[in-house]
Parts: sequence; C-alpha cells; structure tokens
Amino acid sequence: MKFARLCVLVVTLVGGVMGKLSPPERSYKILMLLPVSSKSHRNVFMPLAEALADRGHKIVMLTNHPKSSKNPNIHEVHHGLPHFKEDNINMFSARKDPGGIFQIFVTSLPLIARELYQVPVVKDLYQKRKEFDLIVINHMFNEVAYPFLHEVPFITLATPGMDPRQSAVLGNVLNPAFVSNPMQDFPRPMSMWHRLCNTLILLRMALYWRNWAIVPLIQKEISPQFPELPSLLDLERNMSLALLNTHFAIDTPLPLLPSQVEVGAMHCRPGNPLPQELESWITGAGSAGVIYFSLGSFTRGTSMPTQYLDLFIQAFRKLPQRVIWKYEGELQDISNNVMISKWLPQQDILAHDNVKVFITHCGLLSLQESIYHATPLLALPIYGDQPKNGMFVKNSGLGDSLVWEELTLDMIVDALTKITSDPKYKENVLRMSVPLRDQLIPPKELAVFWTEYVIRHRGAPQLRSPAAQLSWVEFLMLDVIFLLHLTVFITFFILRRILRAICAIPFGSEEKTKKKKKKD
Ligand SMILES: *[C@@H]1O[C@H](CO)[C@@H](O)[C@H](O)[C@H]1NC(C)=O
Repeated sequence: MKFARLCVLVVTLVGGVMGKLSPPERSYKILMLLPVSSKSHRNVFMPLAEALADRGHKIVMLTNHPKSSKNPNIHEVHHGLPHFKEDNINMFSARKDPGGIFQIFVTSLPLIARELYQVPVVKDLYQKRKEFDLIVINHMFNEVAYPFLHEVPFITLATPGMDPRQSAVLGNVLNPAFVSNPMQDFPRPMSMWHRLCNTLILLRMALYWRNWAIVPLIQKEISPQFPELPSLLDLERNMSLALLNTHFAIDTPLPLLPSQVEVGAMHCRPGNPLPQELESWITGAGSAGVIYFSLGSFTRGTSMPTQYLDLFIQAFRKLPQRVIWKYEGELQDISNNVMISKWLPQQDILAHDNVKVFITHCGLLSLQESIYHATPLLALPIYGDQPKNGMFVKNSGLGDSLVWEELTLDMIVDALTKITSDPKYKENVLRMSVPLRDQLIPPKELAVFWTEYVIRHRGAPQLRSPAAQLSWVEFLMLDVIFLLHLTVFITFFILRRILRAICAIPFGSEEKTKKKKKKD
C-alpha cells in the first residue's frame, strides 16, 4: 500500500518539474574554470552551463576536455596541457597504492601552474577576465586557476558535494562529531574513537592539501608570474557563494549559510525512450528483470583485473536476470543473458522499471542517478569518495556494498539475489527518491537563480558570513576563554590570599601560645 502511494507520488513529481524563473535582465558573460577536472566534474558543470546558455548568457569554459556541447552560447577552451589525464590513471592500481594518486597531484599541479598561463588561449582569456560578469570555478583541484579570481566576482561549484574545508573558508566550520570528512564515513552515531579519527583525518587532509604539500607548491610557481597578486588562499576567501553538489535528502542534513546552496543531482532528468534494441532486451527479460553494470566514465571495464572479470562472467551465468554491462573491450565466454556495450544511456536505463539493480563503483553522480531513478544498488567502491558512498548505500538500506579483494562467486550471486528478491531495497530507495524530487524549484534552476543573483548584486556581499573574516583564535574564542580562565584563576588567588590573611590571626596567636607552652 505505502509502496504504491510512493510510486504515485514519483509519477506526479516527474510530471511537473519545469520551473518559472523570470527572464534575465540582460545577457551575462560567464567564465567557467575547470582546467583540472575529471569527466564527472565536467558532467556537473555542463547542465548549469547549458541552462545558463539557454537563457541567453554567453559561457566560456576553460577545461582539459575536448569540446562536448553543441550549444552555440557555450564556447569551450581546451588548454591542451598533458599533465592531468584521467585516462592515464588506472583506478584499480590507485586502490593498491593509495599514496600514489596523491603523488600525481604533487607532480602534475605545479607543472600545470607553471605552463598554464603560457598557453596562448589561456593567456588571452586571463587578460580579458575582467570583461566577465562572473567566474564559476570548480572547487576541487583548481587552485592553479585562482589568479583569474583577482578583482572579479566568483562562485564555486563544489563538484564533490560538501567539503568541510571549503565550508570553513566561508565561515561555517562544520562539527566533525556528525559531519564526515570527504574520504571516509563511519557508522552512525559515531563512537568516541570514530569522532577522534574523523577529526584527525579532516585536519590532516586540510593541512596536507592547503598548507603543507599541494598549495605551497602551486604558489611557488604562481608567485613569480604574478608578483602583485594576493596569495592563492587569500583570493579563495573572496568567494561569494558555493553551489554544492549534494542535497539533504541524500546526505547528512547540515547547518548551512545563505551562501551555501545545495543543488545536488542537478544533472538528473526523467528517462527518455530507449533505443529499440535496448528497450526490447530489457522488456524481454520478463519478470526476472535486468541488472545494469557500469564502473562509470572514469574507470574503464578493461582496467578490471581478470580474476574479477571471471567472477562476474561466472556469476551472471548463474543468475536468471539479463545483464547490461558497460565494457569497452571484447569478452570471451559470456553467457547469452549478457549484453555488452561500450556506451550506454545510463539514466534512461536506470529509469526503466524492469531494471532491478545497478552494480556500480558508486561515484557520486552514479549514486545520485540511481537514487533519482529509484534503482537499488550493489556498490563496489574503488577509490576516493566511493568507499564513503558505498558505506552510505549500506547504512541507508539502498542495497549492499562489497569489497573487491574479498569478492567470491557466491558473494556476488547472493548479493544480487538478495537485492532483486527482497522488496525492502526498492522501498528504501524510493523513500529517498521521492524527497529528492520534492523541491520548490528543480536544483538546476536553483543553481541558475543563485548564479544570476550574485551577478545582479555585484558579488552579493549581503551573503557573506562575518565568521569568514575571523582568525582561528577569534573564531574559537581562544582569547576569550583564556581571559575567563585567567579571571577565575586570579580571583581564586586573591580570595585565597585574603582567607589566609584572615585565618592567620587566630591560628597565629594559638600557635604562639602553643610554642610558649612547650618552652615552659
Ligand atoms: C572581492 O570580490 C568583490 C565582489 O565579488 C570584488 O568586487 C573585489 O574586487 C574582490 N576583491 C579581490 C581582491 O579580488
């Protein structure tokens, strides 16, 4: 019954998603900076860029990706530097050597900082930067582009969702007793040990990236090129607003400033009709349904070690479902319930009723799409924030999460059988999907509204928290606490002196009489 009502609500909400923003006052020029980005970061930027372009604004995007939009109002500038190429990163090797991926940043970011402003198109863009009404910069990994921000209003798009480090820069220091660090989550409520770990991981990440390893190296390259500019971290502090790729319906509800706007799942949209071949494959699976398997745009199926490949091939042979597997190469020995394809319309597949489970690496965008389209998940997180997302899937009962190194044939078969046969997973994911879609205006329009708002109000100083201007000593009130302690201590000291002085009179005379008596 409840389940049926949820389904009806989903259908009604999908029906009425187009909002009504009033037309813009004029066409704005907006510069989007994502020169160090993964494909998934670009995929978070694109819906915002297209929505703004559709309203007549002119968008220039500085990226490290080939052109991908056909919109005439979007001009993509590819800087062409080779130092950060995700295609060269094998996530399965990164998993074996977690320090290694940080080494990629340590070596590539200073190189990019050294060469970026020598690239003619970038140099040109830098000189013209004040012609733009606003800059939108990718919050993650893009300190190399901070010189652009000098004396131009800017906002950030926080592609990985909430990053407590960024929140602190805006003046909202989140409490690690309940807000997890960006890499790892813990079972809730967190034990004392977990709160300690969470705090230490968070501090280490912030200090390592911003103060010890990465930003100082970039600064060393930037300073000689732009001697007159404030430091990179000072430039960052002038941010007007952060659009966060998260939403309280699918993450921890957080206390936020007016300058922190949740626009998570902005790229999600109702499913479009599938190509005929896929549609008939999915419907043809009958009541057993379909399993969809994809490790995302970053991790290629072909980088999967063969022992895992074999396990999946064998597991799929044992299952009654049909399988759609995003895989870029040839596979031997696959059973005839498996369809292989190197590109698939993921959202349209997830939107199909007969798709029962999504086997995923649990990247943030895949997780959002699966929840939006109410498809239960089997998470196989590889690296980065994926283990945290996998933990979320498990904790919230949206499916299950397995560990690559522990995989066995039975484990895969059992997990998939459990998720496809027990209705509670579908119910749980619907229970999250409905509130995610139940919003005053769709997240993409919200993002458009706030982007235009910051331009209309010239950086919108009214949004800024005074906390952002305070030092740590002032923010944590260490000086006040110290003064209070000092006052208590001094008062105690004075009172003790006075008491002693008062007590000394009778005691003193008694002792003297005692001594006198002894002498006698
Ligand atoms: C800080 O931001 C405001 C408004 O966004 C801008 O006018 C000002 O030039 C910026 N200051 C610096 C030093 O970049």
